[in-house]
Amino acid sequence: MIISHISDIHLPIMVQPSFSDLLNKRLFGFINHSSNRKKIHDIENLRIIFDDILKNSDGHTILTGDIVNLSLRSEFESASDFLGSYFPKEKLSIIPGNHDSYVKCNYEDSMYMLRRYTENNHDHRQASPFPYLKLFNNIAIIGISTAVVSPPLMSWGRVSETQLDTITEILHSLSKDNYFIILLLHHPLHEFGFLNFKGLLNKNSLIKILSGFNINLILHGHLHTESQKKISLKEVNVPCFGAPSTSRANGGKLSFLKYDIDKVNDKWSLKVYRRSYIMQTKKFKTQILMSRAYD
Ligand SMILES: [Fe+2]
Repeated sequence: MIISHISDIHLPIMVQPSFSDLLNKRLFGFINHSSNRKKIHDIENLRIIFDDILKNSDGHTILTGDIVNLSLRSEFESASDFLGSYFPKEKLSIIPGNHDSYVKCNYEDSMYMLRRYTENNHDHRQASPFPYLKLFNNIAIIGISTAVVSPPLMSWGRVSETQLDTITEILHSLSKDNYFIILLLHHPLHEFGFLNFKGLLNKNSLIKILSGFNINLILHGHLHTESQKKISLKEVNVPCFGAPSTSRANGGKLSFLKYDIDKVNDKWSLKVYRRSYIMQTKKFKTQILMSRAYD
């Protein structure tokens, strides 16, 4: 199975926020968006990447958060329309990032509008939107929310206690069979920013739980640049990949990550590729980043 990994798309604000919308942390974000981010994150870049991804009609796509900027209801409505014009619900899995929980807002006014991409695709009980579990043959995708409100200029994340309990329960339910388990979270599991102020505050609690199970791949966003690290879980080095911001050109290139997951003789294998679009030549190229077999 081919999985494409995109992240931090920060779709443009199409409806001007009202004065009352900006009487909170959004004011800082709106100034930053208007003076800076608006020029960097271009929806046309997403169209180029999405068209390329959708050439493979069998694949699945993962979007690891920061879909919008200020968590305005109108932004989620636009995001639902835009993503819906490309991806039917069975083709995309998304999780929220810190910008999707920028200020305190109702679930109904935010991620609810994208719920078709965050629902279990089988009969596992789902009491709340996150974590969700999707199964594709024997590939299990677990989507976690690390999106919490943080003070102005901060962008940390946290996994709730309820989610930690459900993650444990899901991993237990999968442990008897040979699933290829992929974990999605917006914030990386490694430290990020001064004293981890941009990172996942309770990463150690999550790592402690994960250490009891076989995890095959961990995917995140948040950094806006590509990242490739490993984390030792159950004495196995588990690959952690961060996708760059898909709407932002870097050095004249757009890029996303691709995972080719296969099972031969009951053993899983993974190949990781970087797919880049060179803006000057308008051509794509593919580079292999990693190839490994799992015992
Ligand atoms: Fe983020």
